[in-house]
Amino acid sequence: MNNSYVSGNVILKIENLKKTYKDNISGESLTILNNLSVDIFEGSKNIIIGESGSGKSTLLNIIGALDSITSGTVKVGDYDLSSMDESSLEKFRSKFLGLIFQFHYLLKDFTALENVFLPAYMIGCSKKEAMEKAKSLLVDVGLEHRMNHIPAKLSGGERQRVAVARSLINDPKLILADEPTGNLDPVNAKVISDLLFSVVDKYKKTLILVTHDKEIATKGDFCYKIVDGKLETV
Ligand SMILES: Nc1ncnc2c1ncn2[C@@H]1O[C@H](COP(=O)(O)OP(=O)(O)O)[C@@H](O)[C@H]1O
Ligand SMILES: [Mg+2]
Repeated sequence: MNNSYVSGNVILKIENLKKTYKDNISGESLTILNNLSVDIFEGSKNIIIGESGSGKSTLLNIIGALDSITSGTVKVGDYDLSSMDESSLEKFRSKFLGLIFQFHYLLKDFTALENVFLPAYMIGCSKKEAMEKAKSLLVDVGLEHRMNHIPAKLSGGERQRVAVARSLINDPKLILADEPTGNLDPVNAKVISDLLFSVVDKYKKTLILVTHDKEIATKGDFCYKIVDGKLETV
């Protein structure tokens, strides 16, 4: 499935990233990421693997501007995350990123269609345009017959399909997916990961996906493992 268009443009450049957590009680500091540097190319599908606790989610949260860095630089597109205030970070997140997690985080009282529609409506897209985009993305993920169902009426795989559609609604440049199939059985995990790869190809997005699944890990253009706080090419 390595049929993505990989341009020579670097969309994410991380240099000498260090992330240390300080334990508030003991005062001890724990360095999770240390001297980590990587270039991620526009249009590429990147897989990140690593032992549990090695810092995969920490890294994704830093790239997604959901966590701070201790030192180093993280540049995403034209944004330098190390020097932005909270309101610019918010703008960056809603315009530049699509996020998918292990848990779907869908709003429980809203239908699949409303869940996909809302992020676009909230950043000022007209209701009509946001609805059209949301419907077309739900068709992309094979949910044309489930648009008006609330999350409780959907299967686990269907909820993740909604999460995939929602991640694309604001036409982000970069999709960050943290173990998006971690809660699914192996058959559904394959279906959802294939679907994610295919929409990423269709819309020429850049993907960074964390997974434990060995089969999924072979499907990207680049695969990295976090070892001792750094990314090693696999
Ligand atoms: N907010 C936090 N405060 C202190 N330690 C944290 C915090 N978040 C994560 N950690 C620690 O950082 C390490 C890496 O966590 P994480 O990035 O979630 O690992 P992974 O996703 O690879 O399993 C773990 O040892 C975890 O306990
Ligand atoms: Mg994790």
